[in-house]
Amino acid sequence: MTHTRMLVTGGAGFIGSHYVRRLLGAGGPGDVSITVLDKLTYAGNPTNLDPVRAHPGFRFVHGDICDRDLVTDLVAGHDQIVHFAAESHVDRSITGAAAFVTTNVLGTQTLLDAALHRPATRARFLHVSTDEVYGSLAQGSWPENHPLRPTSPYAASKASSDLMALSYHRTFGLDVRVTRCSNNYGPHQFPEKVIPLFITHLLDGRKVPLYGQGFLNVRDWLHIDDHVQGLELVRTKGRAGEVYNIGGGTELSNRELTTLLLELAGAGWESVEHVPDRPGHDLRYSVDHTKIATELGYRPRKDFTEGLTETFAWYRDHRDWWEPLKAHAAL
Ligand SMILES: NC(=O)c1ccc[n+]([C@@H]2O[C@H](COP(=O)([O-])OP(=O)(O)OC[C@H]3O[C@@H](n4cnc5c(N)ncnc54)[C@H](O)[C@@H]3O)[C@@H](O)[C@H]2O)c1
Repeated sequence: MTHTRMLVTGGAGFIGSHYVRRLLGAGGPGDVSITVLDKLTYAGNPTNLDPVRAHPGFRFVHGDICDRDLVTDLVAGHDQIVHFAAESHVDRSITGAAAFVTTNVLGTQTLLDAALHRPATRARFLHVSTDEVYGSLAQGSWPENHPLRPTSPYAASKASSDLMALSYHRTFGLDVRVTRCSNNYGPHQFPEKVIPLFITHLLDGRKVPLYGQGFLNVRDWLHIDDHVQGLELVRTKGRAGEVYNIGGGTELSNRELTTLLLELAGAGWESVEHVPDRPGHDLRYSVDHTKIATELGYRPRKDFTEGLTETFAWYRDHRDWWEPLKAHAAL
């Protein structure tokens, strides 16, 4: 079995840490070692990696993907890069976009350069993008060749990095694979995002802030296990230079999502506070995941009600994880 040395950026965050725990945990591929490179911004949490810290194939490096010398050094010793690191919260990008451009665009380009100029062979580069690069659509679903029309500064920075990654394939022949996934949910998500924010507010007996009446904004919710499934298929069996949408979760309006969360918490609509919508809020996202399904055999497996119930229980049982984060971020 060939051993693969992987560099995982942003591996202390929500999805990246789940990916690392899955790959190094029981049932993982077994032929990989992983170095996590993470700056530990407010969104990065080293405790997310505690379950794999003692694994002989695990190493953690505290650093910035924009640090060219560090990145060049690290990439030299790795065969593949899985790139999660990003500023990821839309609301923060509206109040200040600079960090989004620096990390998401310049950081990605720094990694791409290191992959390209790696001594001996070039590194394979899996770029974790998002369905938000497509913008918003009223009906139907986006195929991978749909034009990119990002709305928020977050989505625009992700679209820029996504195109930068593809340009390194087209210009230099670098083995770049891009995934565009829909909204994820699951344990360890920073409590500023809607599902953990609502769950933890409800657990504290607080009101949840719903944009308008919640009918307008529709999202396709996918459990992180299914995102990881799609990423692994693309990393191991996908084609260089290709984009793969990952989705097929459950499409819900924010009102429907709120109803389910209220039910899980045993709370009623008096626990909801209607707040004005954020500027440029995309109405509906929906990715067409036919390509990854037919070409690589991807099939979303996690039932939404089951996944949401487990996620609710995880936050109920892990107050020690989220209480300090909420207090520090004044959420
Ligand atoms: N959350 C979703 O629903 C979703 C959906 C599709 C795609 N994505 C993409 O998946 C990736 C991971 O998302 P997430 O929700 O886990 O984000 P997250 O905010 O939870 O984690 C981001 C991680 O990146 C690290 N980081 C930030 N800037 C860095 C830098 N300059 N150098 C090194 N590390 C840095 C942070 O410390 C953190 O650990 C992002 O690229 C995001 O765009 C997320």
